[in-house]
Formats: sequence, structure tokens, C-alpha cells
Amino acid sequence: MKVLILGVNGFIGHHLTARILKETDWEIYGMDLSAERLGKSANHPRFEFVEGDISINKEWIEYHIKKADVVLPLVAIATPKVYAERPLSVFELDFEENLRIVRQVHRYGKRIVFPSTSEVYGMCADKEFDEENSPLVLGPIAKERWIYSCCKQMLDRVIWAYGRQGLAFTLFRPFNWIGPRLDSIETAKEGSSRVVTQFIADLVLGKPIQVVDGGEQRRCFTYVDDGIAGLMKILANRNGCANGGIFNIGNPANDHSIRELAEMLRELYGKHPRNRGKKIPPIVEVDSKQFYGEGYQDIQTRTPSIRRAKEILGWEPKVPMKTALKKTLDAFLAEADASRAGR
Ligand code: UGA
Repeated sequence: MKVLILGVNGFIGHHLTARILKETDWEIYGMDLSAERLGKSANHPRFEFVEGDISINKEWIEYHIKKADVVLPLVAIATPKVYAERPLSVFELDFEENLRIVRQVHRYGKRIVFPSTSEVYGMCADKEFDEENSPLVLGPIAKERWIYSCCKQMLDRVIWAYGRQGLAFTLFRPFNWIGPRLDSIETAKEGSSRVVTQFIADLVLGKPIQVVDGGEQRRCFTYVDDGIAGLMKILANRNGCANGGIFNIGNPANDHSIRELAEMLRELYGKHPRNRGKKIPPIVEVDSKQFYGEGYQDIQTRTPSIRRAKEILGWEPKVPMKTALKKTLDAFLAEADASRAGR
């Protein structure tokens, strides 16, 4: 099978690439702005990488869609601070650029596996979010945070509609996947990383961990290896089981408040051999208006139903929260130490 991955150096893209090359005989074509996270995969004989921007290298993309069996358009801005600060950039990249790719995949009769998001459920009041029944609840227009959710939802609907005209597709919805190389320390320095990287970077930089609006809001954190295992089942598509389906890929057992997350990371960080006896930065509270600006609004609980993924794909997550955090933290610290040594 030939797989085209756009955004191959991203968090999901580079983990997926390593897994495909390790466990299958599939070939990968990949494009991204850089290759820094690809490591050994970059020189693999079954991997063809091109450095480039998807909004510029349109001919390369069209040519490789024609050559591929399945296409994963993983390029997107995926950090809430940017949704509130630069909503048009989110629209242009996450929606417009990806729409062009969806249309080409349809035109050339190929299969698309599209990253929807847990965010499409928005402020849904259901205890567990169900792919086929839960309402998708967004806030007012002035709450610009929802533009990401709205772009992804619209693409879900467009892909679904093309599906009725014959497009082969699967939508998957990651629920707060975490793991090594989630976001870079550089984005965390600006305070615009997703929460786990942000908290680890705060600890490393000796800055207080800031919990937004009291930190009672909850997320279900999914270790990236589990998430990728789900995605591999979707790509393998045994007996066409994933065709035309939507799958939440999340870990309902790792359901924690943001304050609990901050406490767990502080504890793990303090126990790490390199930090014994050191003073660990405190947890402080910050108002969301101050942290994200007026355009922000939050979700209090976000728990996936994974019934469909279990029954149809035969997938379920295995990695508990403490292990997931420890692995993420250890990888981040090793990277920070290596970059300090290289300086
Ligand atoms: C994320 C992002 O939108 C995407 O990565 C993705 O589509 C989706 O959700 C997902 O990964 O499932 P969110 O969970 O709100 O959205 O993103 P985070 O930035 O990781 O924030 C989680 C929570 O931590 C929020 O309540 C936020 O206010 C809080 N937070 C964040 C803090 O309390 N302090 C910080 O320094 C950063």
C-alpha cells in the first residue's frame, strides 16, 4: 500500500511514519516544512520525503495523490492560543488548504483518512461523546476559539457528503493525544503549547505552572502509541471495517482535571534524578481572559465513547496516565538536556 502523509513531521505524522515503517511493508510519501522529528525514518528506503509547504507545492501533492492508495492530510494549526489570536490563519490552513486536498482525493478516486478532532463536540453536555448521536455545540462568533472546531466540523461534513458520491473515507477523532515531541519547547516559551508540553516546559524553565480558571476542567489524555495503534487499524481497514466510519480515538480511563495534571507532573518532575533536592516551581491560577484573550471559551468535560472503536476496529487503549506522563516527561527532558549540551 502507498500512503501519502501531509504534515509528516508533525506530532501524529512522525509517530505514524515510524510505526508504518517498523510494522508493515507499506511505502510512504511525506511532505512537511522540516524533517527534524523524523529521525531514522528520514533515510528509510520505503520513505520519500519532500521539504515543502502544502500551500505552495501543489503540483507535487496532486501528483502523489494520484500515485497513492490512501491520503492523510494531517497539516493543521492545533493549539487553542492560536485559534483565539489568529483565527484567519486557522481557516486558511486547516480549512481552505485541506478542502483542496479532499477534492483531489475524490477526483482521483483515492481513500482519505482525515483527522477530525475531539473539539468538534465543543461544549456538548453528554457524559460520553458519541460519534453518531452527540450534538456538536459551539459558542458565539466572538469566541474565536471555536473556529478550529468549526473548520474541522465543516470538513467532516464535506467528506461525508463526498462519501455519498463514492469517496472512500474514515474520520478519526483524537482525544488529547500526548507523548514525546507533542509540541516544541520553542512554542512553549511563547506560552502557546498544548497543556502537557506547556506544563513540562514551565517546570524546565523554572516558571510557575499556570492553571487556567481554577483548573477544574477535565480532559481524557491518550498516549500516542495507543492512538497510533488505533490509526493503524483504520489504515489496515480489515474487510473494509473502517469505511465510511467516524471513530473517537481516546482513553476514557485517563480522565483528569487540569489541576490534577499539574500536580502529577510536578511530582514526577521532582522525583526525576536530575531534579532531586531542587525547588520545583509552584502551581498558580490565571484567568482565561488574561491567558488566552477575550476570544477564548472552554470545555468542562470531554470524555469519548470508544464503543465503536472497540467493536468495529477491535482497538482499545492500554497505557495508563502515570506511564504516559512519565514517558512524555522523560523524552522532553532528554531533548532539553541534548539541546543544552549542543549549545
Ligand atoms: C486541544 C487542541 O485544540 C487540539 O490539540 C486538539 O484538537 C484537541 O484539543 C485534542 O487534543 O483532543 P485543549 O484540550 O483545550 O484543545 O488544549 P490544551 O491547550 O491542551 O488545553 C487543555 C486545558 O488546559 C484547557 O482547559 C486549558 O485552558 C488548560 N491550560 C492550558 C492551562 O490550564 N494552562 C496552560 O498553560 C495551558
